[in-house]
Amino acid sequence: MQNTAPPLSSNALSAHALPSYLQAEKLGPWGIYLQQIDRVTPYLGHLARWVETLKRPKRALIVDVPIELDNGTIAHFEGYRVQHNTSRGPGKGGVRFHQDVTLSEVMALSAWMSIKNAAVNVPYGGAKGGIRVDPKTLSHAELERLTRRYTSEIGIIIGPNKDIPAPDVNTNEQIMSWMMDTYSMNTGSTATGVVTGKPVDLGGSLGRREATGRGVFTVGVEAMRRSDMRVDGARVAVQGFGNVGGIAAKLFVEAGAKLVAVQDHSGSIFNSLGIDVPALLRHVQHTGGVADFAGAEVLAKDEFWGVDCEIMIPAALEGQIHAGNAAQIKAKLVIEGANGPTTPEADDILNDKGVLVLPDVIANAGGVTVSYFEWVQDFSSFFWSEDEINARLVRIMQEAFAGVWQVAQDHKVSLRTATFIIACQRILHAREMRGLYP
Ligand SMILES: NC(=O)c1ccc[n+]([C@@H]2O[C@H](COP(=O)([O-])OP(=O)(O)OC[C@H]3O[C@@H](n4cnc5c(N)ncnc54)[C@H](O)[C@@H]3O)[C@@H](O)[C@H]2O)c1
Repeated sequence: MQNTAPPLSSNALSAHALPSYLQAEKLGPWGIYLQQIDRVTPYLGHLARWVETLKRPKRALIVDVPIELDNGTIAHFEGYRVQHNTSRGPGKGGVRFHQDVTLSEVMALSAWMSIKNAAVNVPYGGAKGGIRVDPKTLSHAELERLTRRYTSEIGIIIGPNKDIPAPDVNTNEQIMSWMMDTYSMNTGSTATGVVTGKPVDLGGSLGRREATGRGVFTVGVEAMRRSDMRVDGARVAVQGFGNVGGIAAKLFVEAGAKLVAVQDHSGSIFNSLGIDVPALLRHVQHTGGVADFAGAEVLAKDEFWGVDCEIMIPAALEGQIHAGNAAQIKAKLVIEGANGPTTPEADDILNDKGVLVLPDVIANAGGVTVSYFEWVQDFSSFFWSEDEINARLVRIMQEAFAGVWQVAQDHKVSLRTATFIIACQRILHAREMRGLYP
């Protein structure tokens, strides 16, 4: 499936009318997203008239998040909530706690949520939030104060019908519980539908924790079936062994694949005979990372991308596969569990090598799909069984992927551009039908 779109250099970005709050030379992930929009524009037909809508977020809120630390000092953190597009429904997207969070990053992540939600056809726009903080440096009580103050600050734009946050890197069920409680205390009634990814006892959904990894596995299997690849015996390498990477690795191994390499923030490990996934999951739970795992050898950081494998799953942060390491990749299939892990230059290198890339905007959409189920269950106060949830998830992912595959064949474009074609048409059609107010 060769991508026939013209290659785009960073010079192409100068053609964009940038908002004054961004610096052209420091666009970061937002610059990658703009290049992806440029690639899809020739395929949008009459809807291309509305494409500028996608090149600027509808709303970006920057908040100061002050908290008292346990030692009595006052610390200030930068917080963000960006609603990229709400043409198809309320904003939806995770909240990230990470020391490298920037406005550009949150903008890009919110835009990818718009694309993803439209690609799997759940009735949401796209949004994302974050705090620039390394949560590992905070105590449990400090983390709670930070989460609650941030939630209060962004409380003016979130809500079950306005914008629904969820977990992302370094945020989890506990953070979602504090967010839900804070919003509910401020509004005067328990509003379970304000966030997803909650614990099951607080209106969470069965299957949500595993949903993103399950979606990664589902589209991976669908792509392999169409490419004459076998899951049984396939060697898998995973970057990021958290929620997404850990579950995806577990499901692939349960289906007969072999996990040969893992890299996370603590180090890289390798075992050509296959890593014992349940044992590694326990190790990570106890120690916080894959380093010092007894059942594998240590791998040099730079060697990770060149390991012999059939499937590579980046499931950590964005920009990890770039022009400097893409050529090393030996896998035939890259499944993007993370958001934005491949730069456009790396995309072109992989395409030229014949590596099939399953893009984030479809591959990791399982999480938001079950978040949608959670939200629906919260509104109706009627909860479904895990089997029902998993069956509906798999059906949605398979149907969405089949549509993407077909569009890629029809237009001879990459799966990423095909996903963008489907999603951007849905978003811009909604925009056109709604019209501009006033
Ligand atoms: N959780 C979800 O439902 C969901 C849904 C869609 C997309 N995603 C995306 O998947 C990715 C991972 O999210 P998650 O929820 O699994 O987060 P997580 O916090 O559970 O795990 C993150 C993993 O990345 C690793 N990591 C961090 N920095 C790294 C570095 N510099 N090098 C290598 N590894 C590093 C961590 O060690 C950890 O294993 C993110 O890009 C996120 O946006 C998550």
